[in-house]
Amino acid sequence: MDRQTSSAPLDESTRRFLSRGQYGLLIDGRMGPGKSNKSFDTLNPSTGEVLARLAEGDETDIDRAVRAARAAFEGAWSGWTPYERQALLYRAHDIIERNFDELAEIESLDMGAPISRTRSSKGALLKMILFFASQSGNISGQTLQNGLPGEVVTMSMKAPVGVIGGIIPWNGPLVGQWWLLGAVLASGCTAVLKPAEDASLSVLRTVELLHEAGLPEGVLNVVTGTGSVAGAALARHPDVDRIAFTGSTATGRKIIEASAVNIKKLQLELGGKSPDIVFADADLSKAVPGAAMGVFANSGQICFAGTRVFVERSIADEFSARVADFARGIRIGRSMDPDAQLGPLISRLQLDRVMSYIDIGSREGARLVCGGERMGGALSDGYFIAPTVFSHVDNEMRIAREEIFGPVLSVIPFDTVDEAIALGNQTDYGLGGAVWTRDISRALKVVQKIHTGVMWVNCYGLIDPLVGFGGTKHSGYGAKGGVAHLDNYLYSKSVYINT
Ligand code: NAI
Ligand code: MG
Repeated sequence: MDRQTSSAPLDESTRRFLSRGQYGLLIDGRMGPGKSNKSFDTLNPSTGEVLARLAEGDETDIDRAVRAARAAFEGAWSGWTPYERQALLYRAHDIIERNFDELAEIESLDMGAPISRTRSSKGALLKMILFFASQSGNISGQTLQNGLPGEVVTMSMKAPVGVIGGIIPWNGPLVGQWWLLGAVLASGCTAVLKPAEDASLSVLRTVELLHEAGLPEGVLNVVTGTGSVAGAALARHPDVDRIAFTGSTATGRKIIEASAVNIKKLQLELGGKSPDIVFADADLSKAVPGAAMGVFANSGQICFAGTRVFVERSIADEFSARVADFARGIRIGRSMDPDAQLGPLISRLQLDRVMSYIDIGSREGARLVCGGERMGGALSDGYFIAPTVFSHVDNEMRIAREEIFGPVLSVIPFDTVDEAIALGNQTDYGLGGAVWTRDISRALKVVQKIHTGVMWVNCYGLIDPLVGFGGTKHSGYGAKGGVAHLDNYLYSKSVYINT
């Protein structure tokens, strides 16, 4: 395993951004301190060093941001035509494209993803903005027949729901925030964003750039701070109409409870424990790296990571050995190392969490094939864990039931298609899943019978906003992408016209 420490020089614009050192809340188009003047550090997880200081917003700040968002929603923004909102999204596309190198570096430094990974997300990010630009002109209701006496014309109309609270996780906010930003701008809603404490910088910089691109003040507001204070205040605020949340199922439950205050609508994308099913007839030259990166990508910090790899028993040992070889060959390095394929975990807390699961796996009787340890040497200051493979895992073990959110892959043998499907479904979660086989009818059977919001066949993790994905069971509700996405930001009104 390579232990890289080299680091490419930062873009001039990144250095300028980072030299500010301290960042405020971005409310009503202006950046300034929070009411309490408190602040907290965000670290570079590759080194454990402080990267920046962020304002610690509290309930008063959330309230001020919600007022700004409400005023913008009721104000001139409501008069913007779909074409004007679409044009704004095109300007957003261009300014993000022009400033992408800086945004990618900020993201990689703040959350640890290797710069090669962040840079390669450019196409996906720009496609999302184009997708939402196209959606802004596609909001429509219907005329409906009715059986009423007299001459009554009936129709449904769509209208933006109002102020959105966006609670964003740390595992890829540069791209992930656009599920929210794009929908807010396309639908005519406004928003208050609460980024994750460990990775707020790319959200702050993106919203700053959008103001440069002509975003009206108050339409998008960013309040940095902790989940328990700023996040919770947003989730229970009586003047927030809807929450879009991505994160843990435990926090999702708290948000559902808080939403009862004013019957907020919710879009929740929560945890996962996705099954990845490999049959003996699969092309292993594709299935091995595909299943491996289905777990290890972003150091395992992806909601739909295919962490339970069910392998047909006749090839289970060979598969485990090959996936371990693949894992050993992955280049681990600091996020700014241009050759790194995997970076650190986001924080000391997550590192400890993942290490404790590795310990639990060994104690439960799973066989550790490779990895399982914190990286030493030049990487010992960061939160690095070597990609880890367990074989002979039982689906009842905790490492097969609970979301680990780290680079830990479990190989679980199976004998028949029906057993693979039954085991795959034996989980509280229902986010992603995949099947690797040359037998298309078997693939389709698995696709139909596995209860998840997205299934891949002979690939893993492809996402296009035109198609989208979602979750079921404890993985949440409300699709991301597709035409259904914008519907979540609109409500429908039935209109009866007596002619
Ligand atoms: P989390 O779900 O607590 O954090 C996500 C966001 O929610 C952050 O912005 C946080 O500040 C906010 N938040 C926390 N508590 C809140 C509350 N009471 N009210 C409103 N907002 C709140 O996740 P955390 O603690 O960072 O990670 C723990 C585990 O969650 C991970 O190990 C992983 O299993 C899972 N997770 C899943 C993600 C996904 O994409 N599905 C993303 C991040 C974490
Ligand atoms: Mg950070």
